[in-house]
Amino acid sequence: MASIIKVEHLSYVYNPGMPGAVTALDDVSFEVEEGDFVGIIGATGSGKSTLIAHMNGLNRPTSGRIIIDGRDVWADPGKIRDFRFLTGLVFQYPEYQLFEETCYKDIAFGPRNMGLDEPEIDRRVREAARFVGLDEKLLDRSPFELSGGQKRRVAVAGVMAMEPRILVLDEPAAGLDPEGRDSILSAIREYHKKTGVTVLLVSHSMEDIARYADRVLVMAQRKVAMYDTVENVFARAEELLALGLSVPQVTKIFLKLRQMGIDVPADVYTIPYAVKKLVEAKARHDAGESLELPRPGSAAQKGGAAE
Ligand SMILES: Nc1ncnc2c1ncn2[C@@H]1O[C@H](COP(=O)(O)OP(=O)(O)O)[C@@H](O)[C@H]1O
Ligand SMILES: [Mg+2]
Repeated sequence: MASIIKVEHLSYVYNPGMPGAVTALDDVSFEVEEGDFVGIIGATGSGKSTLIAHMNGLNRPTSGRIIIDGRDVWADPGKIRDFRFLTGLVFQYPEYQLFEETCYKDIAFGPRNMGLDEPEIDRRVREAARFVGLDEKLLDRSPFELSGGQKRRVAVAGVMAMEPRILVLDEPAAGLDPEGRDSILSAIREYHKKTGVTVLLVSHSMEDIARYADRVLVMAQRKVAMYDTVENVFARAEELLALGLSVPQVTKIFLKLRQMGIDVPADVYTIPYAVKKLVEAKARHDAGESLELPRPGSAAQKGGAAE
């Protein structure tokens, strides 16, 4: 399948040429296939928000290129508006941008801006509200009467209603309680499954990324440190920890077991998979097999799991 996003040698400097110049991205390259669900993770200040603001032309590369759906975003700056509709960007704490008198009007704002007719706007508002699990009854209410989690859903629905080809969300679960987190993240997963829209989700939670994404982009110090499937990234748990990133609790336990010399896989990041692997290990043990990890450099190590 063709890549819907191509980032080529992207660098970005805030306040270039000034005393306060900050290089936020340094030679970043990667591609995203249409329909992928990519989790973006990295320490605070690693450049995640700066990166995603390039996806719809909010940031203009200092050098390098962003190609969306085969078109260089900045080839014709007069056409930048096209990309605002192609890529839907949900900012951090998007509920602060709600301003209309009803939720309905807030969700309708984007589609209306696109010049769609009323029946089409109405269809999109209701469909988006369903995607985020917002009760129809709330549509006529003021967003300011809603809970934090409900406001967040209204804001996300407003971007979904534009029916972008790419949905980009910056920490959509930040600041919500565990129930609110689960509900918004599950809504995004369902939306991805049903629409096939490409999703980029920035999160600082490895557990969330493990649960929702297919691929992971790890940002560290303004660069891409890793970009691979969830399994392959979690198999590098030690490197992730060295980058100051957390890994799921269950991954840490398996890492510890391996450090103790026990032959269990390194790419464990869900509980059911962990249980399966432990049951298998026990069966091997019961059958009298050794559970010791082969020593580094020994023949058995060759062609091993990680790469
Ligand atoms: N508007 C800005 N002006 C100057 N520097 C900025 C601005 N926004 C972000 N930065 C800097 O750019 C770097 C990357 O920031 P950011 O993209 O926000 O990272 P993240 O989203 O991963 O926390 C940081 O060093 C940050 O301080
Ligand atoms: Mg950020």
